[in-house]
Amino acid sequence: MSRIHRAATFGSSRARRGPAALSALVVGAALAIVPSTPAGADAGCAVDYTVNDWGSGFTANVEITNLGDAVNGWTLEWSFPGNQQITNLWNGSHTQSGANVAVTNAGYNGSIPTDGSVSFGFNANYSGSNAAPLAFELNGVLCDGAVDPDPDPDPDPDPDPDPDPDPDPSDRVDNPYVGADVYVNPIWSANAAAEPGGAAVADEPTGVWLDRIGAIEGNDSPTTGSMGLRDHLDEALEQADGDPLVFQVVIYNLPGRDCAALASNGELGPEEIDRYKNEYIDPIADILADYEDTELRVVATIEIDSLPNLVTNVSGRPTATPECDVMLANGNYVEGVGYALASLGAIGNVYNYVDAGHHGWIGWEDNFTASAQIFYQAANAAGATPSDVHGFIANTANYSALKEDHFAIGQTIGGVPVRQSSWVDWNNYVDELGFAQGLRQELVSQGFPSGIGMLIDTSRNGWGGSDRPTGPGPQTSVDAYVDGGRYDRRIHLGNWCNQSGAGLGERPQAAPEPGIDAYVWMKPPGESDGSSELIDNDEGKGFDRMCDPTYEGNARNGNSMSGALPDAPVAGHWFSAQFQELLDNAHPPLN
Ligand code: GLC
Repeated sequence: MSRIHRAATFGSSRARRGPAALSALVVGAALAIVPSTPAGADAGCAVDYTVNDWGSGFTANVEITNLGDAVNGWTLEWSFPGNQQITNLWNGSHTQSGANVAVTNAGYNGSIPTDGSVSFGFNANYSGSNAAPLAFELNGVLCDGAVDPDPDPDPDPDPDPDPDPDPDPSDRVDNPYVGADVYVNPIWSANAAAEPGGAAVADEPTGVWLDRIGAIEGNDSPTTGSMGLRDHLDEALEQADGDPLVFQVVIYNLPGRDCAALASNGELGPEEIDRYKNEYIDPIADILADYEDTELRVVATIEIDSLPNLVTNVSGRPTATPECDVMLANGNYVEGVGYALASLGAIGNVYNYVDAGHHGWIGWEDNFTASAQIFYQAANAAGATPSDVHGFIANTANYSALKEDHFAIGQTIGGVPVRQSSWVDWNNYVDELGFAQGLRQELVSQGFPSGIGMLIDTSRNGWGGSDRPTGPGPQTSVDAYVDGGRYDRRIHLGNWCNQSGAGLGERPQAAPEPGIDAYVWMKPPGESDGSSELIDNDEGKGFDRMCDPTYEGNARNGNSMSGALPDAPVAGHWFSAQFQELLDNAHPPLN
């Protein structure tokens, strides 16, 4: 077992400029601007986080330096990026709920004078990776080394290092969602508003899916309707009305699309990479370039489900499919994603977010680092560079819960670890927030820029309604404990098609948690994941039995029932019954 010693510094106090600031950059924390305003006026802090790590546990020493007014009584808060679980803590008292930790001073170290420091320490267990937290907050103020005259609770861990705001609207900002509204797709909005109760959410922003070449010009299909990309962009400028506006577009048309399933197969055959480039990406890039110098911030979500399939659904895995073997061997997913990143990344107001699966797919150790590596490979293919990647999106069109409050990876029940429960099944994560934050760290360590941010699709992961657990399950067995407490009520984590019991999740919002640029509704709620029986169509879509409620499963869902709603239309078509259920089971509930 190797013994690793690492130090991370959050913010730079005046005493620690230079090398300490460098180590902050290495772990992806802020390289703080040391303010010219004298200290002693207001609030500000820096945190040194040092660990001694022995592979499955570690001891941490945490030193807080107060850069602002003297503090009497303090609470330091952070979220662990992985499954770290504190076992004991000294020189303070703590609470931990899932990944979230709050430490409050002991009786004797509550006062910290200006420029003074206090320390506490703790022991913790973990499995998987032990990345340092992305950010710390002291009494609600982000510890970024700056002194803030107006204490700012903004949790964004990577403030723009450029201190001179530039008025050019095409300059990329750190988090495109901050200070901007998000485009409401009029076609989805009309579908939602036409449903009983749908008016409550019809003005929420959702993704515009360019799911085939014809969608670029608008093809009157049930999935994309009459508006082409240019129509949407013009409408977006109307909605922007002179202010910054995020326009969310989904790039989804790879050759041999959806290689591990049938419901969302596309129009291009496995070898048609040239058509992908010339007839799909190039025209999209040409249109977007016409809107480069506008107030639009174009968030391009790149190719859902594609790269993770090359890790988990290829030969050597029990979940392999011949189609994914073909796409790994011919390289066209990697080439296509690289080409999309390079072409769209060349446009100043485009923000590329690559699809990163979800915790119930990529959260296992075997899949996690391998996925980050293939993302990095794609970000260096076909002319792309990692700086073409602004971030990643988790849980697109999936149902994984945002936060599971009633069980955590580090816990044991009667001596049996929670990880050993059938539901968790040795995954390193139990929810999307922990996964997205942990993956962000892993991606940075693979070579992506330290400022990348994550999106989480919360369109259908609410799991509310009367069946939502209000506390942990009984401690009679680890399975009873986890199953009784979990919000996600799928039969198996691998189920993905029109899930029965699902509800709308968190409403779209900017910068909700450290490392997370936004919660988004990239999948438009109410659009089917796939037909529950074979329905002829001219979109290339097949019939996947994971959408058939009578199907008893395969290796990708632990040979479980599919959990799908009956009577579903072809993928992307409006599915009224599902929309109604999503409204009923919304969490947070609708007003
Ligand atoms: C599915 C469909 C696609 C649709 C998307 C959004 O992936 O295959 O056609 O645009 O969902 O609903």
